[in-house]
Amino acid sequence: MKNIEITQITTSPVQLIGKQWMLVTAGTPDKFNCMTASWGGIGFLWNRPVAFVFVRPNRHTATFIDEQPAFTLSFMPEQYRQDLVFCGRNSGRDVDKMANTSLVPATTPAGLPTFENAELVLECRKMFRSTLQEADFIDWSEVSPAWYAEDNPLHTLYICEISAALVQ
Ligand SMILES: Cc1cc2nc3c(=O)[nH]c(=O)nc-3n(C[C@H](O)[C@H](O)[C@H](O)COP(=O)(O)O)c2cc1C
Repeated sequence: MKNIEITQITTSPVQLIGKQWMLVTAGTPDKFNCMTASWGGIGFLWNRPVAFVFVRPNRHTATFIDEQPAFTLSFMPEQYRQDLVFCGRNSGRDVDKMANTSLVPATTPAGLPTFENAELVLECRKMFRSTLQEADFIDWSEVSPAWYAEDNPLHTLYICEISAALVQ
């Protein structure tokens, strides 16, 4: 993969994250976990390009994110859609996601886990972590029934510096 400037990513983050989805992959090349995510963003904060993701604390991936200083966001071609569905419906606690998908692990130049054939990989260095609080919502009743009913804990927000953007 080769490095590009973050400004060369011209696809809207709403399309990229919200429609194409991404694999949040955290851990080490030897021991990692990934999950599908479609909530998050790419922006500019603290004078640097940042990515932010919302991960519920009960995700297996959350443990891996919390253990390492950095993780990756991998954007896969459309042919991997079913693999993203699988990684979004099953937990690495219960299944071997690599054995059940066509995803092939790879390692970024910074030593972070990602996947072969990812068309875009963002290396993300964690800068901020906070779990959403009910009291901070402007209208809790608007979001609560759909997103935070029982067994659906409030998301943890991670804001990360995009330390590298890589393409094929
Ligand atoms: C399309 C799609 C988008 C998802 N987006 C998110 C998300 O942004 N944040 C989140 O916490 N879970 C999200 N999920 C759910 C996780 O991917 C799912 O719970 C997964 O099984 C967690 O795997 P893990 O336990 O191995 O980490 C999404 C699932 C799908 C199918």
